[in-house]
Amino acid sequence: MRITIGSDRSRLITQAADAVEELVRTTPDAVLGIATGSSPEPLYAELTTRAERGLDLSHLRITCLDEYVGLSADHPQSYRHYIREHVLLPWGIDPSTAVLPEGDAADPDAAAADFEQRIRDWGGVDLQILGVGPNGHIAFNEPGSSFDSRTRTVSLTPSTRAANARFFDGIDEVPTRAISQGIGTILESKRALMLAFGTAKAEAVAAMVEGPASPEVPASALQRHPDIDVHLDDEAAAQLSA
Ligand code: GLP
Repeated sequence: MRITIGSDRSRLITQAADAVEELVRTTPDAVLGIATGSSPEPLYAELTTRAERGLDLSHLRITCLDEYVGLSADHPQSYRHYIREHVLLPWGIDPSTAVLPEGDAADPDAAAADFEQRIRDWGGVDLQILGVGPNGHIAFNEPGSSFDSRTRTVSLTPSTRAANARFFDGIDEVPTRAISQGIGTILESKRALMLAFGTAKAEAVAAMVEGPASPEVPASALQRHPDIDVHLDDEAAAQLSA
């Protein structure tokens, strides 16, 4: 893990955007894995600004980590909606080329298997953007998820539903299940870039970086990732010992 810590979030975002830009310039049709959530939103906005200034992002192939079960692609809190609004439309990418899980499929287990297969058909993810949940989850791999896990349907813990309730009209509206890339799937991404900001992430970040690699902290599996950059602000890095 290469760790970058800084007090200036916008500088961390610029560095992350530089990494995406470098990838696009060498491989215009690279497979970029999008993490949803609030942490990477400024990164997508920065890339949108660069696209408006002439950086061509339109050939990127886009996939993502996860999706709520039961939400339609038009639901404002579905991850497919997020990706359409923050990535596909502003970057000029044809939405029909994106590989995203069908959370509202009649058979979510089949949709999960199909999602994993379609990523494999693309030859895997070249650069995966990641966030981390306050309980150490990555994608929707909750504590206890096997490091070998593949894309599947999962149940969301009460703490994750509570953490994400801010996006919904109350916790009862938050779905109880999701389709999530497995930890094993995420570890196969060729390169990864994690963004974590704020005090609420400090404990999870310390366990991810310095704790034993254990399914109790799904993000600690990233210690085994062959090529990962972690960008932290001072608050998120506050519980690191070094
Ligand atoms: C969500 C998503 C994750 C995301 C995490 C952190 O539950 N499933 O993919 O990384 O929470 O989100 P945020 O960046 O909003 O804190």
